[in-house]
Amino acid sequence: MDRSAKFWDRIAERYSKQPVADEESYQKKLQVTRQYFQSDMQVFEFGCGTGSTAIVHAPYVKHIQGIDISANMIQIARGKAEAENINNITFECSTIDEFRVSDETFDVVLGLSILHLLQNKEEAIAKVYKMLKPNGIFVTSTACLGDDMSFFKFIAPIGKFLGVFPLVKVFTEQELVTSLTNADFAIDYQWKPGKNKAVFIVAKKG
Ligand SMILES: C[S@@+](CC[C@H](N)C(=O)[O-])C[C@H]1O[C@@H](n2cnc3c(N)ncnc32)[C@H](O)[C@@H]1O
Repeated sequence: MDRSAKFWDRIAERYSKQPVADEESYQKKLQVTRQYFQSDMQVFEFGCGTGSTAIVHAPYVKHIQGIDISANMIQIARGKAEAENINNITFECSTIDEFRVSDETFDVVLGLSILHLLQNKEEAIAKVYKMLKPNGIFVTSTACLGDDMSFFKFIAPIGKFLGVFPLVKVFTEQELVTSLTNADFAIDYQWKPGKNKAVFIVAKKG
């Protein structure tokens, strides 16, 4: 099994019990995202974790497909959706690289706290672009550690080697925006709640 999957499997139970770090910002991100939703929409979320965000968004759209590299995360997500009687989400264990889908399938793609955890965010962004319908929306929330914690690039490989961190990539907010615009996305909304906070971006497929 991939080392990253092992890491996330190991912490899945603990992760599911952690409160949201910044509830006010989280609620604002949910509200902004919902402004783009319509009840007939097909939504995809990669790195969905234990499904909390998919579950709260589910009543506002037709269907959400959630994937995650960790089988334990997916098991918890399925249990939570079942417990809340949500039946318009399909959770599947898959990496974003392995996930296969026809072009122009989804209206909205969510990638929340995930782009900085990928070996190659540009590949993932290009894949998201292809799976979105014309004018489709990509909603991301990303730790841009290059802005406030650039020293992390020295710690990250050691932490990964010791198994205390997953793979973590260090880049700036501007580098993320450039990756999105290079892939032909137009930035529709961009918000960083404060220092050391994740950057929330809504990008539109042209
Ligand atoms: C920081 S958590 C975020 C979970 C959720 N999106 C949230 O905002 O709470 C990152 C998640 O991404 C998953 N993940 C890591 N690498 C992945 C990959 N290559 N493909 C799909 N999921 C991945 C992890 O298993 C974990 O559940």
